[in-house]
Amino acid sequence: MSDDPLYTPLCRLLGIELPILQAGMAGGPTTPELVAAVSEAGGLGTLGAAYMEPEAIREAVRAIRRLTAKPFGVNLFAAPMRDDYSRYREVQAVLDRLAAPLGVPPRAGIEPVPTPDRLERQFEVLMEEGVPVISTAFAPLPERLARAARDAGRHVATMVTTVEEAEIAEAAGCDFLVAQGSDAGGHRGTFDVERHPNGALVGTFSLVPQVADRAGIPVAAAGGVMDGRGLAAALLLGAQGAQLGTRFLTAAESGAHAAYREALLASREDDTVVTRWFSGRPARALRNRFVAEAERAGIEPMPFPSHNTATGPMRREAARQGDAGYMALWSGQAPRLLTRDTPAADIVREIAAQARALLTRGRAN
Ligand SMILES: Cc1cc2nc3c(=O)[nH]c(=O)nc-3n(C[C@H](O)[C@H](O)[C@H](O)COP(=O)(O)O)c2cc1C
Repeated sequence: MSDDPLYTPLCRLLGIELPILQAGMAGGPTTPELVAAVSEAGGLGTLGAAYMEPEAIREAVRAIRRLTAKPFGVNLFAAPMRDDYSRYREVQAVLDRLAAPLGVPPRAGIEPVPTPDRLERQFEVLMEEGVPVISTAFAPLPERLARAARDAGRHVATMVTTVEEAEIAEAAGCDFLVAQGSDAGGHRGTFDVERHPNGALVGTFSLVPQVADRAGIPVAAAGGVMDGRGLAAALLLGAQGAQLGTRFLTAAESGAHAAYREALLASREDDTVVTRWFSGRPARALRNRFVAEAERAGIEPMPFPSHNTATGPMRREAARQGDAGYMALWSGQAPRLLTRDTPAADIVREIAAQARALLTRGRAN
């Protein structure tokens, strides 16, 4: 297989056949069926477990294992979960007004809900269950945990948005990096959001070669990679693989809400914005009614994770009612390249075939 341009050292490291990583996406899209289908097709499926209770992670990991014997990953948030509710009343009053059309009861007059810090217990479950790849957003795993994972033969990774973050992550013991360009859907992986309130916003084409040149460990490119052209480009830019999020949201096995999928399939390249109004951290989402109104409120949201906890009731009610106007519709900048209900295995195989043809024959097919 060594003359296959898709079989990179990252594939060898992770024990996978294709350099296609399905992003761990917190909040429900990455069902065990999706994760297993991607891994079974030769890529690396990843469970987005950041918001999951430790025992729910254990169940999901076991469900993945029942569907595939191949390697897979689990993704967690490694940011400190320290609440800052100092501006709670002011911001909650805005959220109450914006969520009123959904019938969400106002909360500004009641005590804020503390955000649980689950990282240690989530990590313990991953260790107990023998999860092969542990990836994080917002920071590398704390050193003690990274060392324990590596000592047990697990691979650890984190998402970076600048060369400086790549250097920090490598020094913290990561085995590989995900270089996330500003095109990417979902949260910016930026470590220091006080320094970069909207996240570092370096485009995928600019970021990947600069990170790849400086990193001594493999790099996967993320942000706007949707098909074999994107994967081929990522490899030509010096990455050893690509991590795709948005592309899998409309896959057959995706757990994304039906209204969310429809909004994605109807959207265009200029429909997204980077907003802090869902979670307090910058994230790229479709500009729906909530985002448009919140951005006009004239105040700043609270910091993460408190703001995320505060918008929870609205997001849950929006999901219950199927109202995409109030959901966090995370999306990258290439939604026109989405396909409807394609099985994830077909997505992986088509991307691989197209990239291989481009890299070996210089043609798309
Ligand atoms: C719905 C959604 C949820 C995401 N959740 C996470 C997450 O929990 N952890 C993480 O590391 N990255 C998360 N990301 C970011 C992805 O890792 C990746 O950087 C991004 O999807 C790449 O850009 P693309 O969406 O254009 O493929 C998420 C992305 C999306 C679209």
